[in-house]
Amino acid sequence: MMSRFRQESVERVKEATDIVEVVSAYTDLRRSGARFTGLCPFHDERTPSFSVDPQEKLYHCFGCEVGGDVIRFVEEKEGLPFADAVETLAERYGVELEREQEDPRAEELRKKRARLSELLERTAGFYATFLREAPQAARAREYLAARGLGEEVLEEFGVGCAPGTWHTVLTRGQQAGYSMGEIEAAGLILRSQKGSGHYDRFRSRIVFPIRDARGRVQGFGARALLPDQQPKYVNSPESEHYRKRRTLYGIERARREIAKAGRAVVVEGYTDVLACHQAQIRDAVAVMGTAITPEQVKLLSAYAEEAVLALDADRAGREAMLRAQGVASGKRLRLRVARMPAGKDPADLLAGGDGASATAFREAIEAAEDLPVFHVRMLLDDADTSSPSGRDRGLDEVVGVIAAMPDSITREELMREVGDRLDADPGLVSRRVAGARRTETAGSSTPEAEPGRVAAPRPLSGRAQREMYLLAMCVRLPAEGRGYVERLADEHFSSPVAARARAWLRDHLDEPTQGLSRDDHELVAYVTQVKMYSEREPASPEAMELNFLELEKARLDDQIAAVEANGGEPPVELQRRRAELTERIARAHS
Ligand code: CTP
Ligand code: MN
Repeated sequence: MMSRFRQESVERVKEATDIVEVVSAYTDLRRSGARFTGLCPFHDERTPSFSVDPQEKLYHCFGCEVGGDVIRFVEEKEGLPFADAVETLAERYGVELEREQEDPRAEELRKKRARLSELLERTAGFYATFLREAPQAARAREYLAARGLGEEVLEEFGVGCAPGTWHTVLTRGQQAGYSMGEIEAAGLILRSQKGSGHYDRFRSRIVFPIRDARGRVQGFGARALLPDQQPKYVNSPESEHYRKRRTLYGIERARREIAKAGRAVVVEGYTDVLACHQAQIRDAVAVMGTAITPEQVKLLSAYAEEAVLALDADRAGREAMLRAQGVASGKRLRLRVARMPAGKDPADLLAGGDGASATAFREAIEAAEDLPVFHVRMLLDDADTSSPSGRDRGLDEVVGVIAAMPDSITREELMREVGDRLDADPGLVSRRVAGARRTETAGSSTPEAEPGRVAAPRPLSGRAQREMYLLAMCVRLPAEGRGYVERLADEHFSSPVAARARAWLRDHLDEPTQGLSRDDHELVAYVTQVKMYSEREPASPEAMELNFLELEKARLDDQIAAVEANGGEPPVELQRRRAELTERIARAHS
């Protein structure tokens, strides 16, 4: 377990950070009074509704209602978990992070890991320089150039070359002060059979450094240079620091684009990623030859709603894609399949320099089919349609897949297609699917609601607007506000988050955005908005009273409606109070 950062450290990072500079990487900001405003980097808009408070280090969009502090901004925009977002900002703004009293073993482990990380980084640097400059790497340079990979993309991904010598990396590591044990733990050397000596693991190979989302080298994949060199790939060994199944090659370069587009293109290998990025398909990552794993799906679903699988169309590739379906089921990642021409991978199509095949690749990505549709079509392709019993078997196979799909036009059309291709009556197909659905849903529960991602702009209702304004005025005029946040109850609010915000403000009226739990994104966004409104909108005790009365009336209306919904007659007392309120509101308006 990683220990947590001390709260003071996190605060110091926030203090040191220039939120305007951070946000300006995503949208142009202009000063407007004490604030900066610009077009929202979280949703498409023509007029600016995004506001940044440079003192409080807060951001908020009045259009789509996202908001939070600068750390939250980095989490969202760069697709980083909290701890990584804090570390990134700490590095950028030169703040030393302290951790909660770390137990000595955890600290030792962290230091050990940091040393390994540094060793991997240096070694990656060495390989890259060797590829760029060494006369012995001429062959590797020619090979990569012949495959259409330009210097720019090689540089970008830090692609390198391992020399053919036996001890270069070992010696350099030792000279830099690393022990044999450390160099071995980093996976860079192997022990010889006799157990006496060590030698470099990667020799005469093109080396692809594999990085985590933050760009830290985790391991290497090393491709043979010569056709007869075996094996084709030598990889870093799996260890507690490096697990291939948890990594996606290229994620450090692709994650921003993935977060922005909500989509990832998943390819098979290193060269595919390079070719995609070179062709400006910047959301491409690779699963590195294996079927996509649950860990990789999880990693992707942190950034994307949708992954387009652009894997080999051969049998193994198809099987891998179908396994992905099982892996992603229940996750909120929609999987789609781009049909690749048989026997070609993206690297072949893109790097060949042939404009037409690059266009074909792009089109295949845009026209990707939903995985279940792909699956059904694959089953239909394989079905023996020459006999009624063959067509029956085909139908048996597809109904389960279709039944698991949500009700949609896609599904309707697919059922028609099945009918056509199996020469079956459409009524039969839908009866079979309906039957399969009944047995399916009998045992399963409904999927959980998706956690709040960046929502599409949605206007607040009049009542919700009023709740927001009242709370904002309470922050602006705390002397009066304190009384209101005490008197207000959950029932005054039309949404749970607004009610929670009121409860929070009761105890944090002076510094509403300080100390909010980072896990409650909804509350953070709401309270940030309250704070932003409090500084922007005028407030007066009269307006507060009026809004309070309106909310009080809304609460009574809810109560009356609840009674009526049960077929009852609302108590006279309720009706009397409502009439009284209506009158007071009318008087307050005049
Ligand atoms: N792979 C691996 N170890 C192997 C074979 C393959 O890690 N022994 C992974 C690599 O990430 C590789 C990917 O699987 O990039 C796809 O394999 P393949 O298509 O064989 O290699 P490419 O990298 O596409 O190489 P090329 O296009 O040059 O043949
Ligand atoms: Mn390949």
